[in-house]
Amino acid sequence: MGKVDILKIAKIAQEAKRINPNVIDATIGMFYDDHKNLIIPRVQKAFYDLNILETFQYGSTDGGKEFEENLLDWVLDDKQKILKSKFQVTGLSTPGGSGALSLLFNAYGNIGDKVLLPSLRWRYEYFLNSAKLSGHEHNLFKDSKFDLEDFQIQLSYLASKQKTVIVVINDPCHNPTGYQLSKNEWHSIINIVNKFENNNIIIAYDIAYFDYNPLGFKEARETFEYFLDLKPHVQVLTAFSASKSFAIYGVRLGGLIGLHHTKEQLDYFKKNVYEDVLGKWSTAPNVGIGIFNKVALQKDEYIIELNKLTSQLKERGDIFIKEAKENSLDIYPYKGGFFVLVKSDNPQYHFEQLINKNIYLIPMNNGLRVALCGITTKEVYGLAKQIKDVVEGK
Ligand SMILES: Cc1ncc(COP(=O)(O)O)c(C=O)c1O
Repeated sequence: MGKVDILKIAKIAQEAKRINPNVIDATIGMFYDDHKNLIIPRVQKAFYDLNILETFQYGSTDGGKEFEENLLDWVLDDKQKILKSKFQVTGLSTPGGSGALSLLFNAYGNIGDKVLLPSLRWRYEYFLNSAKLSGHEHNLFKDSKFDLEDFQIQLSYLASKQKTVIVVINDPCHNPTGYQLSKNEWHSIINIVNKFENNNIIIAYDIAYFDYNPLGFKEARETFEYFLDLKPHVQVLTAFSASKSFAIYGVRLGGLIGLHHTKEQLDYFKKNVYEDVLGKWSTAPNVGIGIFNKVALQKDEYIIELNKLTSQLKERGDIFIKEAKENSLDIYPYKGGFFVLVKSDNPQYHFEQLINKNIYLIPMNNGLRVALCGITTKEVYGLAKQIKDVVEGK
């Protein structure tokens, strides 16, 4: 995906849509329901109920005890107990999932090292550059499945060159394809990373879209149980994005959760991650922490609301995939989530051609990203055919 400026393209698309309501703006990763609402009422109420003094005062570096408890409860849910029986678990607040990733790369990456990235991905390069790291790719798909063989080859290569290897896994609802690793694929990945006992392996587990997993809230948290099989040289650091789970994109809230086998690993996190927070933003914005702590008190009710959004997204996905099949539009394997990636041999050209048809997508290295999250179910109908015509040069 490289370093395409999605926000810039999105602004152009938003302006085009303002002038012409028939424009299809499938650019940015924000979920709008079928009535074009972005804000979730329960989250809005929590915002209005904030204590203004607490919000305007300085918060704590890690977000505070209440936030940590709520973060672990939200992300790990009923897996928390079993995880705590094996790992020392810690979590802290960050400005968005971006903040969590930034801390992770800075605190765990050794300057000049390479990080293992999938060949199709979100724009991790920006975080790597600022942490003075760079990327090394493994091929993501082989025969529409996760390419385990290349994953192992590329990991072996990096493991032979450097002591610490950070491995980025964005799952479920992978950006930009919407892929989801199967249970077997996860187990194979765990077997592979377990083999590199002479290295420190850090799994950067990017769960930005996990709350939109079409299989549901509980199922989205199953993966955490697989981590019980990890050997002590493998730590999982989970980057959570409240931007997506609570539709508070501009508020900037997320969290970084560490699963540590030893006290030494825990102490490393406590020292290095905390110091990186102090060297970057001191404390994550109190607004988001306050909203999150309030909604966490109404978790069950909120999950019901969230499930409604996930069902709408699933419906959009089902329509697009059905029509893609009917029109022989070639897409990467999609299981659910905000985005679908259409294969294209000339993404920039096709992107420009689609603009002539009032369709705004995001051009990437090997395809065009369609943000199903940003268009209504009605707008999905016929879209696959329109894209197909452009990709085929009709
Ligand atoms: C794959 C992925 N990870 C992490 C993020 C970070 O999200 P935020 O910083 O807005 O919480 C995004 C946002 O688009 C994303 O697509």
